[in-house]
Amino acid sequence: MPAGGFSVSAPAGVEFEAKITPIVIISCIMAATGGLMFGYDVGISGGVTSMDDFLIKFFPTVYRKKHEDKESNYCKYDNQGLQLFTSSLYLAGLIATFFASYTTRNLGRRLTMLIAGVFFIVGVIFNGTAQNLAMLIVGRILLGCGVGFANQAVPLFLSEIAPTRIRGGLNILFQLNVTIGILFANLINYGTSKIHPWGWRLSLSLAGIPAVLLTLGALFVTDTPNSLIERGHLDEGKRVLKKIRGTENVDPEFNEIVEASRIAHEVKHPFRNLLLRRNRPQLVIAVLLQIFQQFTGINAIMFYAPVLFNTLGFKSDASLYSAVITGAVNVLSTLVSVYSVDKVGRRLLLLEAGVQMFFSQVIIAVILGFKVTDHSDNLSHGWAILVVVLVCTFVSSFAWSWGPLGWLIPSETFPLETRSAGQSVTVCVNLLFTFVIAQAFLSMLCQMKYGIFAFFSGWVLIMSVFVLFLLPETKNVPIEEMTERVWKQHWFWKRFVDDDEHKLIGDAEKNGTISNGKHGV
Ligand code: BGC
Repeated sequence: MPAGGFSVSAPAGVEFEAKITPIVIISCIMAATGGLMFGYDVGISGGVTSMDDFLIKFFPTVYRKKHEDKESNYCKYDNQGLQLFTSSLYLAGLIATFFASYTTRNLGRRLTMLIAGVFFIVGVIFNGTAQNLAMLIVGRILLGCGVGFANQAVPLFLSEIAPTRIRGGLNILFQLNVTIGILFANLINYGTSKIHPWGWRLSLSLAGIPAVLLTLGALFVTDTPNSLIERGHLDEGKRVLKKIRGTENVDPEFNEIVEASRIAHEVKHPFRNLLLRRNRPQLVIAVLLQIFQQFTGINAIMFYAPVLFNTLGFKSDASLYSAVITGAVNVLSTLVSVYSVDKVGRRLLLLEAGVQMFFSQVIIAVILGFKVTDHSDNLSHGWAILVVVLVCTFVSSFAWSWGPLGWLIPSETFPLETRSAGQSVTVCVNLLFTFVIAQAFLSMLCQMKYGIFAFFSGWVLIMSVFVLFLLPETKNVPIEEMTERVWKQHWFWKRFVDDDEHKLIGDAEKNGTISNGKHGV
């Protein structure tokens, strides 16, 4: 997931001396493989589950339903086992995040990434060689563990190793790589669907490439100075800092990391600290942004686009082809966000996207309502193209708004003292709701039919109203000045952020969240 976690930035207006060294470049490649791996897992399952060879082997009842005329169009793929194939990964990822937050802190970022790489490789082996449903699900669970460990450690690794001035860009770069991973998966499914009967094995096995790259990367890179210092290796931390910054002049940054890690050690209960009243605005916003991001309905498209297009009467080939188109739109539109997020701001992107997503979904619902009934789909060529275009307008607006900003905003609004715990909560809530959508979508499609799109459009309306009134703009606000410049100025949230620093510290001490007059990570 995009950059977050506890990282150290220069005091307002001060830039530490730092060159873009080979190690920094290697970390960008690491980010690419971590993001690609996640995206590939997101994108691969939909195409594979629409392949007949795969269905015959693992889900014969779905295969029969798919080819029987008496089954409702909307219910062809409604099968809990099939949904579990997709969703088990997110459930495993959610649970693994708790362990990953322990290992990132105590064993370091590098070892945690190595653990992720090993999970990924074993998971890919299980999936690629699966003989039965159990092997398939075990493989997905192992991949999910990889996602849990990688998504906690890689962004943290990145934000700590990157010079301050490129940290924000790296944040969205991770999301960009997720979208590229999804697109690759769609392209590969398009190719392998023509290889019978084992094309699906190739689709699942090719995830091995980013998995091996991530593992090799983790073997060769060094741990971050922050992690070394946090674990008491001060001399080594300083040596690594000099190496990655390409300069001997690292004392100011070194001292700041030592101070941040001292403060971090003082916080006895980071999660309890997060629940204090004054941290309520950031917590509520981080949690709601994750729920809203998933209730846009994006993963109904990302996971199940080929299945969905198939449901609408597209032939297999056309379904996979259309999924490739939406995947490409996703990548290109994410670039729009990279370019404009610091210029036009977060709110404008989210509000514009709200309007675009709302109308795309309402129109899709109306077209399907009239044209696709339980037993006949009258989608002529023209209407089918219009549906694909509307899916693309929906995906594009998501990709320049809720996709990257759902991650960026939480990572930039938490103060240092709650950033790490805040990031874990963000990742967990996101994976939880991703799991819910993955497990429920095909059944919801069967029950609600075209109304499912109206359902998601209702959510888009709610989240846009939330943005309008309750989400403050964070563009161009230095990360450590958020409390003063954003929360204390906001008409609603300011009531939670008390002015009296002494009272806060007293409260925190009483609550036992800090051990003395300092509050930290
Ligand atoms: C979301 C994923 C989604 C992806 C699509 C991410 O921001 O968290 O759930 O699949 O965007 O590009």
